[in-house]
Parts: sequence; structure tokens; C-alpha cells
Amino acid sequence: MSGQTPTKGAPSKRLFIKTYGCQMNVYDSERMADVLSPLGYALSDTPDEADLVVLNTCHIREKATEKVYSELGKLKEMRDERVAEGGSRMIIAVAGCVAQAEGEEIMRRQPAVDLVVGPQAYHQLPELIARSHRARGERLSADFAADEKFDALGPVGRTAHGVTAFLTVQEGCDKFCTFCVVPYTRGGEWSRSPETIEAEARDLAAQGVREVTLLGQNVNAYAGEGGLAALVRRLAAIPGLDRIRYTTSHPRDMDEALIAAHGELDALMPYLHLPVQSGSDRILKAMNRSHTAESYVRLIERIRGSRPDMAISGDFIVGFPGERDSDFEATLALVREVNYATAFTFKYSRRPGTPAAAMPGQVDEAVKDERLARLNALLDEQARAFNAGQVGKVLPVLFERPGRHPGQLIGRSPYLQAVHATAPDRLIGRIVPVRIEGSARMSLAGALVSDDVSGELEPA
Ligand code: SAH
Ligand code: SF4
Ligand code: F3S
Repeated sequence: MSGQTPTKGAPSKRLFIKTYGCQMNVYDSERMADVLSPLGYALSDTPDEADLVVLNTCHIREKATEKVYSELGKLKEMRDERVAEGGSRMIIAVAGCVAQAEGEEIMRRQPAVDLVVGPQAYHQLPELIARSHRARGERLSADFAADEKFDALGPVGRTAHGVTAFLTVQEGCDKFCTFCVVPYTRGGEWSRSPETIEAEARDLAAQGVREVTLLGQNVNAYAGEGGLAALVRRLAAIPGLDRIRYTTSHPRDMDEALIAAHGELDALMPYLHLPVQSGSDRILKAMNRSHTAESYVRLIERIRGSRPDMAISGDFIVGFPGERDSDFEATLALVREVNYATAFTFKYSRRPGTPAAAMPGQVDEAVKDERLARLNALLDEQARAFNAGQVGKVLPVLFERPGRHPGQLIGRSPYLQAVHATAPDRLIGRIVPVRIEGSARMSLAGALVSDDVSGELEPA
């Protein structure tokens, strides 16, 4: 899940941001670009000529963290070459969760880094950059002042990039799953006020955004009045904003009001990412997940009771310390019972400072590989079956962008599947009925039901 923020405008100074990790980092990268634009920084899609490079990093697994150090090595070479050729000197900044978790180590391991800024402090980037012209080695982590960050950013003044957008409503985590670094990198649970969220959503809708995905490490723990259900209702009333999604949810915070909202609100899309991690109660307990396999399955049943066609997605970790074959079999059994539309699977990665890193019974890499392959095979089969089940149906598709082939557009179904169809560019940003004709593991192919899209379909 790494990507770049799209290019815009003619640059006076060039800014390149590389984003790793979760959607919240994607949101943060966009906001960093917004904060830096008054200083004359325009986004560029390569680091080659950049005056400022920001790596927005992820600490979740060891691999994600190591990628940052190898990227920094490449950037240093690029900068040295450029300086040797008499070019301008680029500023190298590290932002995000690695910056928060090991800022000092970054400075020590890679002296080319000019500044380090944690996820709650990037509104201070302009000031830091001004200072870095004078001296290197600023480290700023503004320990978890999320309220200060959002106050400083303000709810409006965002540049929308397309017809869908992420919108952070909640940050941080109080759950302390024993494998996870997020409570340490993002701090405790904190929610923005409904007023600022609504203002930001209206600003986005005015720029043509038709779908928002509300973000939070525990988005359904949203603590504004009435919880996430009330927030969704409020946003669903904004003209032009026809689709609302949210991610990521914790089973513990899936309350009745939110479940009911899925049955009542057309704008709330029938897709739910609800990580379970394991199907073994013994392992779930060691993970400190606060749900059992049984309670999770019952929860899914209640959700499907409210919205029968709900597409369920999940996260799984294989090879957590102490996981035996029988525990892994329990995970496969849970997957068979739930029947997932899609899922994300990970091999357990030992993260320094987390309780699980010190647990006995660390699992062999080869065993993790084998379990991951078996789990993926089962989930793949379910994803293909879920997608194949859409063939022959007419789905409302929000077209987002041109496809790879001329004349083709790519959009999303209510269930978050990518849908390819031959369609004119003017349908970008419109929700249009598409007859699904083919399916694969990750996407659907379809055809417009009619050339006359004046009677635009409202989302089902
Ligand atoms: N707040 C969300 C997402 C957390 S990170 C949630 O609770 O669901 C996204 C996923 O990364 C987690 O759901 C988990 O499956 C995975 N993950 C987190 N720490 C990990 C680790 N140490 N090793 C392997 N996977 C991990
Ligand atoms: Fe990590 Fe667990 Fe919090 Fe999710 S709920 S961010 S997995 S500690
Ligand atoms: Fe990674 Fe931080 Fe997100 S650790 S998954 S970027 S919250």
C-alpha cells in the first residue's frame, strides 16, 4: 500500500512525497502538501529534481521500516551526485510512524536526513524547513498533540485529488494488541469534532468529491456525540456526498447504532473492514484482542442481519508466538464460516518494545510461510467467488479515472471492487448503472446499461 500523491501545477519549488503504510498516511501526505503549498512547494511525481523529499513512513512490520532506510540510502546518493554537478541541495525529511518511533536512530543511521517529524507535528513543517536551511538535525515529535495538529491544519483549504477522498476523523489507539506498535506511534485514541469534520467534508464535496472514506486507527471508536453512526448520518446529509465508507474498525467498538445505520442509510456503503487477526481463542487472548472467535462470528451475523449483502473484509496474522497447527486450523475454520469478500494477511513480525516480541514460542519462518500460503489460497478462493457472484447484476458504479485502455474508465462498486467499463470521460464523478459481465480476483468488468445517463442512478 505505498503510493505517490499526484502532481499538480507548475512548480517554483518541487516537493516529492513518498507514502508508506496505511490510508491515514495517505491522508497525512495530502495535508503535508497542502501545508507546504503556501511556501511555493508544488508536488512532483519523482524525486529527481525535488527541492524537498518527504518519506512518510510506516513502522507496522520490520519490512516496512527497513524499506525506509534503503530509500534514504538512494536519496543520499542522488543528492550527492546533484551537489557534485553543481545543482541545488535537496532537503530530506522523514515523517510518519518510523519518525515517531525511532527519530534519533534515523539521524544516527542516515546522516543525510535533515529533519524528522512525527505524525502529530507535520503542521510545523514550514517552520522546520525554514530552520533546516540554517542548521541540520531538527527532531520534532510533538508528543501526540493531535488536537493541536488539527487545529493548526484547519478544516478547509484541502485540495481534492479526484472524486473520492480520505478524511481522518479519529487517530490513535488504546487497545494495545500485544503485537502492534500503533498505540506507541500514534498515541491514545482521539476524535475530531463533528463540526470540523463536516466543514472539511463540505469543502471536499464543493470540489466534486462524491465519496469519502472516514479514517481512524479505530474509526468506530469515534467519540464525537452519538458516535460514528451519528457522524455518518450528519455527513450523508451533505449534498453531492453520495457515498460514505469508514476504516478500520475494531470488533469491540461495533455498536448497535452503527450496525443499524448500515440497514438504514443508502449512502453508507455495504463494505466493512473488520480485522479478526486469528480464529483461535487462545491466540486472541495472547494478542489482547478482547473478542473471541465466537463473538466475532455472532457480530458478523448481526451485521448481515442489518445489511444482508455486506461485503466483509479482514486482517489476519499467522505465526503469532505460540500459534500451533490447531490454532491455525481454527483460523481457517473461522474464515470458512465468515466467508470474506477480501482480506489482508500478514506473517507475524516481531516489533521491539511490544509485549509479543518477548513471548516464548516464536514461530519458525518456514512454518509462517506455509500457513500464509494456505490461508491466502482459501481467502483467494472466497474473493473470486464473491466477485463471480456479481456477474449478471447491475451495480451502481462511481467512475473515478481513465483506465489503461483508451475509452475505458475505472470505478468502484458499492462493495469496493474495481470495475472496468468502456465509458466516456464525462462520466468521471458520476454514479452510473453498470452490468457486470466478468470477474477476477481483484476486479470486475462491465458495460454501461444505457448511453443515456441523464437519469443517473442513486447508490443502492
Ligand atoms: N487499527 C487497525 C489496523 C492496525 S495495523 C486494526 O486494529 O485493525 C493493520 C494490520 O497490520 C493489523 O490489523 C494486523 O493484522 C497487522 N499487524 C499489526 N502489527 C503486526 C505485526 N507485528 N506483525 C504482523 N502484522 C501486524
Ligand atoms: Fe494495533 Fe490493535 Fe490498536 Fe489495531 S486495535 S491499531 S491492531 S493495537
Ligand atoms: Fe503504519 Fe503508522 Fe499506519 S505504523 S499502518 S503508518 S498508523
